Parts: sequence; C-alpha cells; structure tokens
Amino acid sequence: MRTQVAIIGGGPSGLLLSQLLHRKGVDTVVLERKTRDYVLSRIRAGILERGFVSLMREAGVGERMDREGFIHDGTLIAYDNESFRVDFKDLTDTTVMVYGQTEVTQDLYDAREAADGKIVFQVEDVTVNDADTDKPYITYRTPDGEDRIDCDFVAGCDGFHGVSRQSIPLDVRREYEKVYPFGWLGVLSETPPVDDELIYSNSARGFALCSMRNANLSRYYIQCSMSDHVEDWSDQNFWDELKRRIPDEAADKLVTGPSIEKSIAPLRSFVAEPMRWGRLFLCGDAAHIVPPTGAKGLNTAASDIYYLYNALLQYFEENDSEGIDRYSERALARVWKAERFSWWMTNLLHRYPDQTEFDLRIQRAELEFLRSNQAAQRVMAENYVGLPY
Ligand code: FAD
Ligand code: DHB
Repeated sequence: MRTQVAIIGGGPSGLLLSQLLHRKGVDTVVLERKTRDYVLSRIRAGILERGFVSLMREAGVGERMDREGFIHDGTLIAYDNESFRVDFKDLTDTTVMVYGQTEVTQDLYDAREAADGKIVFQVEDVTVNDADTDKPYITYRTPDGEDRIDCDFVAGCDGFHGVSRQSIPLDVRREYEKVYPFGWLGVLSETPPVDDELIYSNSARGFALCSMRNANLSRYYIQCSMSDHVEDWSDQNFWDELKRRIPDEAADKLVTGPSIEKSIAPLRSFVAEPMRWGRLFLCGDAAHIVPPTGAKGLNTAASDIYYLYNALLQYFEENDSEGIDRYSERALARVWKAERFSWWMTNLLHRYPDQTEFDLRIQRAELEFLRSNQAAQRVMAENYVGLPY
C-alpha cells in the first residue's frame, strides 16, 4: 500500500490530521492498535480551546460540537471555603468550549468513515523504517497477516506509550520529565453538574475539580495517593471526600448518583525533543504530557496538528519545505508554555506530601494575589483559553 502521510495512532491527534489533510486532497492511512469502540470508551479531556474549536470547524466536523457543546466564559477557583471567578471573556474576549474528547473522537471517526478514509484497526508490531531517508515505510501486522505502507511522511500520533518516539535514535532524542507525587481519581456520573462553570478547588484535604460533559453528565476529580486503587474507592467514599474539598455552598447542592466510570490517572510533565526526525513527526502525547490541571493535554495535541497540517500543505501544494523544517521548533515553543502553565496550576492547587508550612503560605499568597489582581487573572485567562498558534 502507498499513501502520502502514514499516521500512527487513531486518537484525536491522528484522526484530526487525517481529516484535515483529506479535505485538502492529501491521502492518509491511519494505523490504530485498538478497536474504534475501545478508543471511544476512554474518558479523558473535556475542555476545548478556541484554536481546537476552529480546527474542528476547518475539518468539517464542528456541527455537533457547535450545537451540543457549552461555551464557558469563566471558571471558579476555590480555597478556604470560598470561591472567586476568573472571567475569561472580560479579560481576553475569548471563551472555551465544554465538549468531551469522546465526542470529538466520535465525530472524527464518523467523518473519516463517511469519506471512506482508510483506518486499519488492531495493528501490532508497527515499525517505522528509513525515516531518515526520502522513502520511509511502515511495517505492521494485522489479524490477516503482515503489511507495509510506503509513504512520503510519517505522523507519530500514537500517544505516550506508542512506538514513534522510540523510533528516534537515543543520540538525537532528549527527554525532560517531572513526575508528581499524587494522582487524580475521576468519576463520571449521570447527574446535573454542581455549577454552571467549573470549580477548581484547593483544600486542606487536597485538590478537587468539578467539571461536566453536558446538562446531565458530570465529571469530578479528586487528588489521590498514587498507592490508591480504584476498587478501594466506593462511590459513597468518593462523594463524601469531594464534598469535604469544595466550598459548603457547592457541597450542599451537589447531586450524587452512581458512577458510570471511575479511574485513576498519574500526573506527569514530559517533553521529548526534537519533535521531528527526518520524515517522522511526533504529535500530541507521543511527544509531550502535561498534568491535567488546566486542561492542556488535548489542546496541545491540537496545536501540534495545526503546525504539522500547515507544514504538510505548504510542502504538497507549494513544494516548500520551510514548514516541515521548522515544525519541531514552532510546536515546542508552544508546548513549553503549556507545560509551564499546567505545572503552575498544579502547584497552585494541590497538596504535596512534603509541603512545609512555608510552602503552604507561599501557595496561599499566590491564590490571594490571583484573587485580587487583574493582571494575574489575565495571565491565567490567556493561558487557559489557549495561547495563539
Ligand atoms: P492518544 O489519545 O493517547 O491516542 C493515541 C492513539 O494511538 C491511541 O488510540 C492508541 O491506542 C494508539 N496507539 C498507541 N500505540 C500504538 C501503536 N504502536 N500503533 C498504533 N496505534 C497505537 N487532557 C486534558 O486536557 N484533560 C483531561 O482531563 C485529561 N484527562 C486524561 C486522562 C487520562 C487517563 C489520560 C491518559 C490522558 C488525559 N488527558 C487529558 C490528556 C488527553 O487525553 C491527551 O492529551 C490526548 O488524548 C492526546 O491525544 P493523542 O491523540 O495525542 O494521544
Ligand atoms: C476536565 C479535565 C481537566 O483536567 C480540566 O482542567 C478541566 C476539565 C474534564 O475532564 O472535564
């Protein structure tokens, strides 16, 4: 088989790139290790930056998002049983969209299927070959046997545990990592959200986040220990703990119900450089991970896709390789700013096992400064709604 761009990974990054390129007449093949149902069963991000929203529309898959997504003009930050609001719209004239990663992925799969896009599921042993030459090719296995794709370029969109990053030789690749000493226990429940907006809460018992997917689907998270197991957290214990970590006013109106999903995610900051090696380009979680505080993971994947999509168009339409030559530099400049913001928001809102009294006072001073200072709020708002591409 031959294609112009072989895409490894059928998560949001890979699908978005495939769909955008298809609309410009560029041929792609997507290789996905799991089944479509499995990919759609993963409950992950929920907040889309304006740049992501524009890309969905450009990809021709914005209709349901525009109909069903919620526009959020601001967010609440809570500490000491009180909350204050950061008004994105006032401060930046921009908003964010509440629309789940599951919905994004479903819309993209539907669009790829409607256009007869080639997606090969359940691939194994994917190997990137000759990426440092003009004739890269991918080999892989499916239940039907071994196969090969020859291509002009390879997009590594296969997430943190994929093969693409590992294909870049160790003497070229540099990795930067920070692992946090806690995780997030997340619950999805068919209950109305506790508030119209998200609540990010710093409490003495640890961080909590009240988020949502729609008018009758809530997503809540609490900071937990990395040694916790999901089976040890009953729904009742989760709701009791969440209520202790958010202001009384919110706790009193919280509607609880059975969880329909419950999982623990570790928190990590990670960046691999460079994001290009020859004709292989890394995108999204394959190249970088942020702790989820601030909802930057999926959004940073989307900005990579924006840079790569435009670079590939420049190459195929104008025979100009400036975009692909500068892809890594452009993507990383924005990635590091998202890393900084996610790290900052994580530090602002979590309790660390080794936090001293001094550290706690500094954290509180930072919260009080943010509460009272418009310039500080603007810095937060600009980052939260998404820095320009
Ligand atoms: P992925 O979504 O990981 O997709 C990669 C795809 O590649 C997968 O479908 C995988 O099956 C496939 N794949 C892997 N290896 C291979 C291979 N060898 N061959 C072929 N295919 C392969 N972000 C937020 O902004 N907010 C959140 O609340 C949030 N919560 C998260 C919770 C969890 C548990 C995790 C893991 C991530 C979370 N994120 C969150 C991050 C966000 O979901 C990711 O940034 C986003 O999914 C990145 O998309 P991606 O397409 O780059 O990677
Ligand atoms: C969600 C996750 C986040 O990490 C965040 O900062 C906001 C919302 C969510 O899953 O809804």
